Amino acid sequence: MDKMWAGRFSKALNTDADGFNSSIAFDCRMYKQDIKGSMAHAAMLGACGVITESESAQIIEGLQGILDDIDSGALAIDMNAEDIHMFVEAELTKRLGDVGKKLHTGRSRNDQVAVDLRLCMRDEADEIKRLLLKLISAVNSKAAEYADAVMPGYTHLQRAQPVTFGHYLSAYSMMLIRDVTRIEDAVKRMNVSPLGCAALAGTTYPIDREMTASALGFDGITMNSLDGVSDRDYCVELLSCIASIMMHLSRFSEEIILWQSWEFKFIELDDGFTTGSSIMPQKKNPDMAELVRGKTGRVYGDLIAMLTVLKGIPLAYNKDMQEDKEAVFDAVDTVKKCLSVFAPMVETMKAIPENMLSAAKKGFINATDLADYLVGKGLPFRTAYKTVGQTVGFCLKNGKTLEDLSLDEYHAFAREFDCDLYDAIDIKNCVEKRVSAGGTGKSAVKAELAYVSDFLKKYS
Ligand code: ARG
Repeated sequence: MDKMWAGRFSKALNTDADGFNSSIAFDCRMYKQDIKGSMAHAAMLGACGVITESESAQIIEGLQGILDDIDSGALAIDMNAEDIHMFVEAELTKRLGDVGKKLHTGRSRNDQVAVDLRLCMRDEADEIKRLLLKLISAVNSKAAEYADAVMPGYTHLQRAQPVTFGHYLSAYSMMLIRDVTRIEDAVKRMNVSPLGCAALAGTTYPIDREMTASALGFDGITMNSLDGVSDRDYCVELLSCIASIMMHLSRFSEEIILWQSWEFKFIELDDGFTTGSSIMPQKKNPDMAELVRGKTGRVYGDLIAMLTVLKGIPLAYNKDMQEDKEAVFDAVDTVKKCLSVFAPMVETMKAIPENMLSAAKKGFINATDLADYLVGKGLPFRTAYKTVGQTVGFCLKNGKTLEDLSLDEYHAFAREFDCDLYDAIDIKNCVEKRVSAGGTGKSAVKAELAYVSDFLKKYS
């Protein structure tokens, strides 16, 4: 097939070079956005008198026919075409003859691809947001279910202070909520139209960029045509939003993998989200969580690839930019798959509160509370801290816990200890007392759960 630009050339493109140059294999997924963008452009050309109203109507009808035919499968996208833009235009001309050749008046593939990709990323951002909200809802329900289940909270992966599983899970809700709002922020900047920037310098035709922008649901237009055709910041931003989602999912996965292990056994994942081993009959592996953790690496790679493609290219469009699409598509597809499997995995996972509680009872997790108890009896915190440190040291030497020591034994460390200390170090009480805003106490966690529910309500 002759290239659109064949006129200037005396020789056809080398076959390997042709394949190398082509992007149809991956930009074919933007056919809807490409056709919608062209329809808006054609309508504007008609309204502005650049082409006649009748030509405009014919082009729009022709494009609608192509869209319907691709959707229904009646028209296969030709993988020998250079890209989706060339394919649609060639098909239109095949159907309409000379009128089809008027579509490309006052525009270039440079603004065309820029508008297609923005439309596509806007749709994808919406879908990612929808999946994130589903996951937040699953996490918040689990958090409510286990609002009272006491478990050890860790720092340095060492038992630190008791928390509830509900509180723990709510931490992930907060991260995911930030991911939603991060996407919304990115979409605000993304949602401006580059259509009409043309090749790089704008056009001599009396076009109306605001008209195409509003027809395509954009909030405005890009203010500089050189920037409009060469800006891919919105890809970088969306990629970094996705990288941040993956980072959160990966941390969550890491915890799920630990909790599912026999060493912790804090949770039991549903059989539907685990796999067995080909040789070890006893195995039940958290493959989904591991895959999410693993796929985080490739998404980070996509972000770095995008930044690197952009870092050395002069204004305006350069073919390097064709490399944007595979990176963003891969990241978008990966995060969607991860979110789709993560929500039901969380929904169906069961906690084992007995195991969480018995782990919480080990490791002197109530030592801070014992120090706070002494503060209540009038000791300065640093003195109380040191006294409890000595008491813990004594327990370790003698194979005892703080609960095991008699009041007499306690008195060897401080006279201020009294029999109410046992209540003060009761694990459940330790949790209950942490009512500071955002803390692990019941009333604080209730407020956190309500905050998440209210956030979700805004989208329902
Ligand atoms: N396939 C190209 C891309 O993805 C479309 C833009 C081509 N523009 C050009 N001047 N060659 O970037």
